[in-house]
Amino acid sequence: MYQKIKGTEDLYGQEMKYWYWIEEKARKISLVYGFTEIRTPIFEETKLFVRSVGQDTDIVQKEMYTFEDKGGRSITLRPEGTAPVVRAFVENGLITQGFPQKYFYIGPMFRYERPQSGRQRQFHQFGAEIFGSPSALADAELIAFVDRFLRDIGLVDFEIHINTLGDTEDRANYKQALKEYYAQHLEHLCDDCKVRYERNPLRLLDCKVDVEYAKQAPKLIDYIGENARKHYEELKKLLDALEIKYIEDPRLVRGLDYYNRTVFEVHHHKLGAMSAIAGGGRYDNLIKEIGGKDVPALGFAAGMERLILALKAENVNVDDIKINEVYIAHFGGEAVRIEAMKLAQQLRREGIAVNLEIMERGLSAQLKNAARTGAKLCIIIGENELERDIVLVKNMETGEQLEFEKNFVVTGIKDLLTELA
Ligand code: HAM
Repeated sequence: MYQKIKGTEDLYGQEMKYWYWIEEKARKISLVYGFTEIRTPIFEETKLFVRSVGQDTDIVQKEMYTFEDKGGRSITLRPEGTAPVVRAFVENGLITQGFPQKYFYIGPMFRYERPQSGRQRQFHQFGAEIFGSPSALADAELIAFVDRFLRDIGLVDFEIHINTLGDTEDRANYKQALKEYYAQHLEHLCDDCKVRYERNPLRLLDCKVDVEYAKQAPKLIDYIGENARKHYEELKKLLDALEIKYIEDPRLVRGLDYYNRTVFEVHHHKLGAMSAIAGGGRYDNLIKEIGGKDVPALGFAAGMERLILALKAENVNVDDIKINEVYIAHFGGEAVRIEAMKLAQQLRREGIAVNLEIMERGLSAQLKNAARTGAKLCIIIGENELERDIVLVKNMETGEQLEFEKNFVVTGIKDLLTELA
């Protein structure tokens, strides 16, 4: 028997209701906030991600699905959505079309990570990017948007963590200070941190092992220049005015290299180790770096699988998928079958979810199947009913059976379903 690839999932049945729930609300709220959808390919040139996410990040170092295609090109399954959206923005000349521009996306991403609850190798993100605005207004809008979206899908048990990474120069100074501090402790650090020390000193602060060292380390905020500091203060003031709760987290640095100034992460209280349900921030230098002009930008992405875990942990009631409100059972000759099919079409045209018997079983097997699939009503048509121009309608919950005249079936069924809803 074939098996799915480790770290991937098959999605089907009522589980899909969570996906519909999130995706519908994501699309709706995006449009309400002025974001339009962008869909980019699932794979890109490898160097796009190396350049943008950063050579020394975990993603590029260890987690990319990279392969050579038959034309000898190095291709990578996208590990995240920002770089492809920026590439599309530059390549398609959108960059010349006035600012701000706001895009959202929903789709699969791929990272070769060790799978566990809330961490997969193929996972899905809902993300959004804003191009063109250097203002803290944009940062506040983005965070307000994320907060609204999470509340719209029904979550309450989350915290928004924010921090500022300062500007490029601030960060270079800070990295230097961090290296000087960690140099004294180098021999006691975990193996991962020894590598981080060389490659990506900011990530030293993220270590789950060397927490004590991180606590004593120089604070990023002390290295932030005046402009970035003002930007951060303004953002906080705006969030306060909007009554959006946040926690300042001076150790929040994020795992991708392109950020500057504002970074944020949303953590859910009930998710354990993989608690980050969303993350994002400003990346004012990325567009220029990958071939465009100097255009400030910012964005976020939320992990759909983690959102679903959070919805379940909070017992949020999401709409069931209606696939079988009415079952049509039929037994008899061709005329009966045609009548049953016609009736199914008629009801479906009205938006009623109908399952028509297509297995040609005996009546009792059909009724059993109607019950198994959760139909609320079962319409029964046989030769006798056809002759009398009626159908039988069985309420599957009470067992009660009614006779409807053929001409009134559609309105009758509609009324019954409204009563049962
Ligand atoms: P990220 O923090 O790497 O940011 O990912 C965003 C979210 O995707 C995470 O908070 C998490 O919920 C989810 N996620 C990440 N990796 C996995 C995984 N292996 N399995 C399940 N869920 C996962 C970005 O990707 C940036 N592109 C966000 C951004 C957009 N920044 C600016 N614009």
